[in-house]
Amino acid sequence: MAYENILVEKLEGRVGLIRLNRPRALNALSSALVRELMDALRALNADDEVGCIVITGSERVFAAGADIKEMSTATPVEMLAVDLLDWDALRKAKKPVIAAVSGWALGGGCELAMACDMIVASETATFGQPEINLGIIPGAGGTQRLIRAVGKALAMEMILNARNLSAEEAYQFGLVNRVVPAESYLDEALTLAREIAARAPVAVRLAKEAVNKAYEMTLAEGLAYEQRAFFLLFSTEDQREGMQAFMEKRKPEWKGR
Ligand code: CAA
Repeated sequence: MAYENILVEKLEGRVGLIRLNRPRALNALSSALVRELMDALRALNADDEVGCIVITGSERVFAAGADIKEMSTATPVEMLAVDLLDWDALRKAKKPVIAAVSGWALGGGCELAMACDMIVASETATFGQPEINLGIIPGAGGTQRLIRAVGKALAMEMILNARNLSAEEAYQFGLVNRVVPAESYLDEALTLAREIAARAPVAVRLAKEAVNKAYEMTLAEGLAYEQRAFFLLFSTEDQREGMQAFMEKRKPEWKGR
């Protein structure tokens, strides 16, 4: 698939990078852009040379939300056909996905960042769910993921009263992993991605899965799920290698099996 709204690169250190690239519309998430993003995620997820994926925008804007011009005349059935709302390929990605956010992350842009596994923010990042200003509510996970990230009180204020969060506030409330200068936010995200991509791949995959299950299961179910994943890792060469390397005081060499 040839892309018109995103740029995709494979970088050294087993990292796949996707840049949202509709600068004139502030990376508004049109249905075409989201289709391309999901396609690129599927391809990078299936690529053995990629261990971790980074999604970014530009320094000015991560994404200013769903494309309001496209949506303004849509019918419910047309909206149903858009992939945007459930981030299918992102939710199904087995590899960790990091959002590198600078500038505006509003509406669907904030929801996209929150659907990733981690967020590295630049000092200029602004997170918000301003859909109420358009007479609608968040439709791509905002009401559900925001409450889990920042708690009910603040989520209510953001969603009911279009209260934005600065990068620093987002860090304080646990929405983002770290805040770094605008010049280095992408490098920081790529470094984090390379570090994770260099780790034991099967363990990384099962770790991501187990953490995400915490959102969907009761504690008892989640603990049982974690144990199964933990036991499963004792069937891998990497578990033998990791423990052997520790005892021999050397760096492990991961095989990914
Ligand atoms: N959709 C379509 N076009 C958009 C857009 C969007 N979400 N956001 C910005 N643009 C366009 C503007 O229309 C403008 O285009 P023109 O030059 O052709 O008029 C261009 O991008 C630049 O935007 P501004 O002139 O507004 O730039 P600014 O710097 O003055 O303001 C901003 C930046 C505060 C982000 C402002 O653009 C803005 O408020 N955007 C809309 C944010 C929003 O409401 N997002 C929620 C969308 S709904 C949603 O996401 C639903 C969901 O949950 C899935």
